[in-house]
Amino acid sequence: MRKNIVAGNWKMNKTFPDGITLIEEIIEKSEDLNNVKLIISPPYIFLKDASNIAAHSKIGIAAQNCSNEESGAFTGEISASMLKSANVNYIILGHSERRAYYGEKDELINQKIKLCIKHNITPIVCCGEVLQERESGEHFKVVSNQIKGMFFGINPEEFTKVIIAYEPVWAIGTGKTASPDQAQEIHQFIRKIITDSYGSEIANNLSILYGGSCKPSNAKELFANPDVDGGLIGGASLNANDFLSIAKSF
Ligand code: PGA
Repeated sequence: MRKNIVAGNWKMNKTFPDGITLIEEIIEKSEDLNNVKLIISPPYIFLKDASNIAAHSKIGIAAQNCSNEESGAFTGEISASMLKSANVNYIILGHSERRAYYGEKDELINQKIKLCIKHNITPIVCCGEVLQERESGEHFKVVSNQIKGMFFGINPEEFTKVIIAYEPVWAIGTGKTASPDQAQEIHQFIRKIITDSYGSEIANNLSILYGGSCKPSNAKELFANPDVDGGLIGGASLNANDFLSIAKSF
């Protein structure tokens, strides 16, 4: 069954005490929310505490990345199996900031997706074009190539664990948002790609989130689209009231 999902990507923000306070506030204020799955994605250092605090709530905890290696001599890396052992059940992969600043390519993201699936973690897999690609009308091709590359070799059963986030890079942290029509158009296109690869049942059950300056003032019109199943929220997820207001926009 396709779920409504709102996930908060904190990126590299908050000190430890501030982060824990925010998690507690979100849990407390979300107790009566039933029609949406909330996920919080704080930096690695918070994850074990976050999963303990959230253990008796309905909130899911996500990491913002993981290694493409299983284990071993990879200084500074964190593996999917370690995250799973800390009760982290989601991992954001392929975020445009990882692509732009750390050189991540579809092939590497594909390896990470496979490790998530192996360890029974739901990957929240990001795609999206940069401004120049949107302006030259290449965005459909860019997104289609990203999806084909990232999901190469993933079989239908494995794909049922996946969440996709469409995040136009020109809208991330810029205050510019895709219009509801632009979002619907490309989300529908993404669902069509998945239908062609995995069949309509799997595609219809896939949650596709929109990300890029999603906030309380625009979430309702974005989420009203039939193929927009929620949001991946950056800046507005750092404030409990804003995050909850977005989550109540279905
Ligand atoms: P933003 O970030 O909401 O701050 O634009 C979204 C994201 O990068 O996931």
